[in-house]
Amino acid sequence: MPGLTILGTGSYSPPFALTNEMLESIVETSGEWITLRTGIAERKIAAETESTLSMATAAALKAIGNIDKASIGLVVCATITPDYITPSLSCLLQRDLELREDILAIDINCACSGYVTALKTAHSLLADMPGRVALILGCEMLTRITDYTDRTTCILFGDGAGAAVIRRDSDGEFSFDSGAKGSVEMLACKAQYISNNPFMPRPLDLVPAGITMNGQEVFRFAIETCSESVKRTLAGAGVDIGSVEHFIFHQANRRIIDGIVRKLGISTERCLINIATHGNTSSATCAIALDDLFRSGKVKRGDKIIMSAFGGGLTYATAYFVQNREI
Ligand code: UT7
Repeated sequence: MPGLTILGTGSYSPPFALTNEMLESIVETSGEWITLRTGIAERKIAAETESTLSMATAAALKAIGNIDKASIGLVVCATITPDYITPSLSCLLQRDLELREDILAIDINCACSGYVTALKTAHSLLADMPGRVALILGCEMLTRITDYTDRTTCILFGDGAGAAVIRRDSDGEFSFDSGAKGSVEMLACKAQYISNNPFMPRPLDLVPAGITMNGQEVFRFAIETCSESVKRTLAGAGVDIGSVEHFIFHQANRRIIDGIVRKLGISTERCLINIATHGNTSSATCAIALDDLFRSGKVKRGDKIIMSAFGGGLTYATAYFVQNREI
């Protein structure tokens, strides 16, 4: 079966940390409540001068390292907070990273499941690009679409970016599982457009941009779908869960990760958990966590890795692969 190898990873987190204590002066909450209910101690907020593109570029440059940029044939960016509707983040990365022009550059919107979906998308598309590698990213500027009067959401979200350069291999192991269940009620952020269209009978009803969410419902959806999706992914690959060395779950709430871990009967020792210092950065959580995992020096050649995420859409996605070399 065609496998997948990570050749390089990188991430970027803005320096400014919004702590739980700071949030106490913004909304009616307590640092203790946030820590107990979410496992988050702080989340990073991008400066006014930063953009989704600047964070993506910083993460991508680290991931590329000494890899020949001319070998990149594909850029897949997962984001729900691009700087522009068009041009895409991927096209702007082609310019800023000075990548060759005969590439495919695409953005995908699967919210928090985006990076895992980008991995699958790249793995599939690389089949038609022999000799080329792919740059995949998860990048979000969530604090620009966060409503800081809503204590049920503003305590969760942060900014950041993660990237990886991946190669499709003729042998190896790769397996994927995903799902979608359309719902505006569970989790949404409405798009805003210009309202001066003279052909409308009345001014368009513009809702302030901001993430809205039914937290408890998403919580239940997350534990159930992620644990079942991991089981299906491993069954598809014929792999026993006990032999998987590394698990990366979407970092949305520490209690959700604990719930998935319990349902799967695995130990948290095998999970990369960094939610305490990053909060929920949507598509960037798995991307940053993958970089943290590789930089920890714990990944050895032949290690089995699972990444699983859930989020707006609603969507979920799980990828399993064996890392074919040390980086
Ligand atoms: O990336 C994917 C998208 N998002 C998620 O995955 C989020 C999934 N959901 C969650 O993480 C959790 O549901 C939340 C963190 C959003 C909320 O935690 P919870 O344990 O589900 O709390 P709850 O909604 O059951 O609320 C319990 C209480 C309520 O008060 P009452 O009605 O019991 O008096 C809330 O009003 O906690 C209250 N509450 C807060 N209290 C202090 C809600 N938010 C806060 C807050 N500070 N920030």
